[in-house]
Amino acid sequence: MPDIPRDKSPDSTLSLLKEGYLFIPNRCRRLGSDIFRTRLMLRPAVCMSGPEAAREFYSPGRFTRKQAVPKPTLMLLQDKGSVQTLDGEAHQDRKRMFMSLMTPDAVVRMGDALERAWRARLPAWEGMDRVVLHDEVQGVLCRAACDWAGVPLDDAELPERTREFGAMVDGAGAVGPRNWRGLMLRRRTEKWARDLVERVRSGDLPAPPGTALDVIARFRGKDGGQLPPDAAAVELLNILRPTVAVHRFVTFAALALHQHPGTRGQAAEDDRYLEMFVQEVRRFYPFFPLVGGRVMEPFEWRGHRFGRNDWVLLDLYGTNHDPRTWKDPGRFDPERFVGWDGSPFNFIPQGGGDFGRDHRCAGEWITIELIKRAVRMLTTAMRYDVPRQDLDVPMSRLPTMPNSGFAIAEVKAA
Ligand code: HEM
Repeated sequence: MPDIPRDKSPDSTLSLLKEGYLFIPNRCRRLGSDIFRTRLMLRPAVCMSGPEAAREFYSPGRFTRKQAVPKPTLMLLQDKGSVQTLDGEAHQDRKRMFMSLMTPDAVVRMGDALERAWRARLPAWEGMDRVVLHDEVQGVLCRAACDWAGVPLDDAELPERTREFGAMVDGAGAVGPRNWRGLMLRRRTEKWARDLVERVRSGDLPAPPGTALDVIARFRGKDGGQLPPDAAAVELLNILRPTVAVHRFVTFAALALHQHPGTRGQAAEDDRYLEMFVQEVRRFYPFFPLVGGRVMEPFEWRGHRFGRNDWVLLDLYGTNHDPRTWKDPGRFDPERFVGWDGSPFNFIPQGGGDFGRDHRCAGEWITIELIKRAVRMLTTAMRYDVPRQDLDVPMSRLPTMPNSGFAIAEVKAA
C-alpha cells in the first residue's frame, strides 16, 4: 500500500508561521489527503485533519502529550506535572479532580461571577472614549475566575494578574519577545499561586469549601499524597489562565454580533439560539490551531504505520471547517447547529473525545457559559457604537484576534 503524501519542503516551520491556522488545511487540500508527513523545527511530523483523524487521535491510550508541543508553548500553557502531561490512570485520577469542579451548579456560578464583574466595570466603560473589548474583558474574566475559584484578589492586584494570564496565552504560539514576556510573567504568577496553596494548607487562608483553590490544595491522588506545591500551583493556573483566555471568544462573539447584525435580536431573546450562536463562534473563529501528541502504542491508519514516539499534529481549526461535516464552512451560521449530531470528533475547538478519559478540555462547559453570559451582557445590559477600525483577523498570528482588539464607543448601561 502506498504511504501517505509528503509535504515537499525540507522543513516547513516558516510556512507554519506564515500560514498559521491554514497550514494543515491548505496541505490536506493540495495533497488530496487527510494525512501527510512534514518536517517542523527539523523534526519529522505527521499532520492529520477531519473527524476520522480526530477519532484515531483520541483512541484511548494512543497518544501522550509529553514532548508533543514545542518547549516554549509547553512552559506557557501546561508545564511539568500538570494534568496535560500525565497518562493513563494517573491522568484519569487528576482529571477527576478537574471534572469535579465542573458541576452544572458550578458552571452557573461562574456565569454569575462574570455578570457581576461585567456590571461592576460598566460604569468605567461609560466614561471611556473607546473600550477595547479584547483588553477589557480580560480584566472582567480575571475578576470572575478568581472570585469563582475562591482566590482572594484585591482591586489593586487585578491589572497585574490580568496582564500575566493574558501574556501567557498570547505568547504561547509566538517565537521571540512575545513568548519570553509570557515566560517571565509566568514565573511570578507561579510563585503567587504556590503561596496561595501553601497558605490554604497551613490554615492561614480559609478557602471556601468546594472552590477550585480548596479542592486543588487538598486533593489527594490515588497514592494518598497531596500534590507537591509546585504541581498544585500549576493546576490552579490551569483553571485561572484559560478562563481569562475566554476573552478571545468573547471578542469574536462581539465581532460576530457586529458583522451579522441579524443574529443580535435572537441571541438576546432566545436561549436555544444563543446556545447555537456560541457554538458557531467556537467553530468559526480561530483559537488553538492544533494539538500535538506522541505515539505510545503503534497503530496503522490510512495505510500509514505510526511508530512509537512519532510526533503527530491534529488539526483543530481545519476539522471545525471540514466541508464534509460543515456545509459552506466559511459562512457564519448559528442555525447549522440545529442538525448537528453532537459527535465528539467533528467539532473540536477545545479538543475531542471523552472528558474523563481523554485530554479533552476540562473547561468546555464553563467556556460556553461564559460566552453566553457575555453575549447577554452585550445584547441586553448595554448599548454601544462600533467605530471604524481594522477588524481583520490575521490567520498567521497564533493565537489570533481582530487587529483592533474590537473597540466600542459611546457605551451606556441599558
Ligand atoms: C485542555 C482549549 C478553556 C482547562 C485543553 C486542550 C485544548 C483546550 C485544545 C487540549 C486538548 C488535548 O490535548 O486533546 C481551550 C480553549 C479554551 C479553553 C480554546 C477557551 C478559552 C478552558 C477553561 C478551562 C480549561 C475555561 C478551565 C476552567 C483545561 C484543562 C486542560 C485543557 C485542565 C487539560 C485537560 C487534560 O489534559 O485532560 N483546552 N480551553 N480550558 N483545558 Fe482548555
